[in-house]
Amino acid sequence: MSALDRALTIDDLKQMARRRVPKQFFDYVDSGAYTEGTYKANEEDFKKITFRQRVAVNLEDRNLSSTLLGQPVAMPIAIAPVGSTGMTDADGEIKAARAAEKFGIPFTLSTMAICSIEDVAENTTKPFWFQLYVMRDRPFIERLIDRAKAAKCSALVLTMDLQILGQRHKDIRNGLTAPPRMTPRFVAEMMAKPGWAFRMLGTRRRTFRNIHGHVDSATNLSSLTEWTRTQFDLTLNWKDIAWIKQRFGGPVIVKGILDAEDARLAVENGADAIVVSNHGGRQLDGAPSSIRVLPEIVDAVGDKTEVLMDGGIRSGQDLLKALALGARGALVGRIMAFGLGAGGEAGVLRALDIVRRETDTTMALMGERDIRNIGPHNIYSNDLVKRQGY
Ligand SMILES: Cc1cc2nc3c(=O)[nH]c(=O)nc-3n(C[C@H](O)[C@H](O)[C@H](O)COP(=O)(O)O)c2cc1C
Repeated sequence: MSALDRALTIDDLKQMARRRVPKQFFDYVDSGAYTEGTYKANEEDFKKITFRQRVAVNLEDRNLSSTLLGQPVAMPIAIAPVGSTGMTDADGEIKAARAAEKFGIPFTLSTMAICSIEDVAENTTKPFWFQLYVMRDRPFIERLIDRAKAAKCSALVLTMDLQILGQRHKDIRNGLTAPPRMTPRFVAEMMAKPGWAFRMLGTRRRTFRNIHGHVDSATNLSSLTEWTRTQFDLTLNWKDIAWIKQRFGGPVIVKGILDAEDARLAVENGADAIVVSNHGGRQLDGAPSSIRVLPEIVDAVGDKTEVLMDGGIRSGQDLLKALALGARGALVGRIMAFGLGAGGEAGVLRALDIVRRETDTTMALMGERDIRNIGPHNIYSNDLVKRQGY
């Protein structure tokens, strides 16, 4: 039995990733802003929700497949955009995109990815989603949207909760950069993690390739870092959805919604779907968990748009709780990153398979055969959720 096969939970994969990935890149994934309060709440609040157990139901022919934005999916999840995935493992975005394709779910490529839109398109056969950060350099952003369109990306995920960067103490303490600086400490790390180092030496993809070579003023690493730091557009607003949507010509999913009023504004301004998200607890520390605000956002716009959510999903049970509270589907960030760190493409597939099995068994024990029927009737009522501290 391989080490990956012995991993039974996402936490097992996380521990494997911790052993295989250099500390600065493992910590980059396993971190939240400031006190990490929101990062922790994202996971903890799932535990406050309890399932209704129903028995004596015919459980033959169970179904986990569904649709997201009209596209068939093997399970109602998508891989969330995770910047610098190619530092967790060499060519990480390509590996994760391939795993998503094999599994039958969408993969989202971050603007701040190591592998470029073109790299992923050349190494996959199905359309993926592209996540857009709006930057001050408008001509660059227009070209980026055009590149996503040319690569036949099937949706644009417009992230609106990162006009300025939340502070993650671990990254500052670790002196995080991509590619890493060859300090004595980092060289010692590479010797302790030779598999990672060996694979990284075998690829030329070690910097932000959506940007590098596409911006005149960001030709080397230090100018690229400086360009990126000063580029996030502080004036981003609801009206921007319209021109982005028009330029892309396909569906735009607005990500980073944590408030019912913002959800209404996103829909009024043309969002084709929204992602209830606090960026995995990496931006506004002290904001509520995503699962906590999901019900009120579904109440506000659930009949007008598809409401997806992300933040804190670590198991099939968590996914089912999100669906029970009205999400159409969920994005998973760290599940993918831990799987990738634990074992590359096979590790991401293992992570997805763990979630699939947990979802199937849990759904059956709840007395359900079809994931599309999961709803509020599967958990103790929202009143109970409230009494449990929501
Ligand atoms: C290491 C890391 C990098 C991320 N980078 C991005 C990014 O580039 N763009 C973006 O929209 N969200 C980014 N996110 C947020 C994720 O898309 C997603 O909202 C979050 O990971 C969901 O929480 P989960 O990790 O608990 O599943 C990042 C998250 C992590 C953990």
